[in-house]
Amino acid sequence: MAGDEGSGRACVRADVSDLRARYLEQGDFVAVEGFVAPDDVARLVGDVERVRRRVHRSRVPGKRSGSVGWFTLQEEAPAIASLYRSPALLGFFSRLAGRPLQRCPAHDAHACALYVYTQPGDHIVGHYDTSFYRDARYTALVGLVNRTTSRLVGTLHTRDRDRAEEPFSLSTEPGMLVFFDGDRLWHAVTPLGPGEERVVLTMQFVTDQRMAPFKRFVSDMKDAISYFGFREVFARARGWSAPP
Ligand SMILES: [Fe+2]
Repeated sequence: MAGDEGSGRACVRADVSDLRARYLEQGDFVAVEGFVAPDDVARLVGDVERVRRRVHRSRVPGKRSGSVGWFTLQEEAPAIASLYRSPALLGFFSRLAGRPLQRCPAHDAHACALYVYTQPGDHIVGHYDTSFYRDARYTALVGLVNRTTSRLVGTLHTRDRDRAEEPFSLSTEPGMLVFFDGDRLWHAVTPLGPGEERVVLTMQFVTDQRMAPFKRFVSDMKDAISYFGFREVFARARGWSAPP
């Protein structure tokens, strides 16, 4: 990667005013093909290979997949960590959202994470990325590996009584960006087929880093059970154990 935030700077060459118009028209949701250049995708996929042995598999009603949380990525995924920390990328997403955004606080295992779909039937049912923070939480997804027929599907405008609901279906190809307000986009991932693989990077941004203590507990429990395991979410966030 060229410099500390090479891929972050490269990404923001996209014309934000056009994208913001599309984002608003689609109800706080936009997808951009080729947002991350192929060379930078290759570096991010290199990180995926580096952390593959650290993937935590979870299966709960409505969701089955593997995940790698932010604490592991900070240690072993330098290209991914530098992308999430990129000031240029944060500025770009702030302009896209139309309000100043911040990265999630350091203790949030879900701040930046990998979703790794490798087993037939891996999927997630329809949901909102509900914010437990005091205000909005935005999700940026970047496709990294997409050897699959599994798709990101959902419905636009479910929170807008003045607009007709509109289904969407996307194949999250390597380098594609999907950016949305988590509380406003109803979305799901259709089941993976045999011999397929899908890996997506997720980055979360907020308008207010504060979270009420009880909501933090609920958010951490959800992340531990549904995504990263108790060790990643609780022990490592609080520095109670060294990485293996
Ligand atoms: Fe989601």
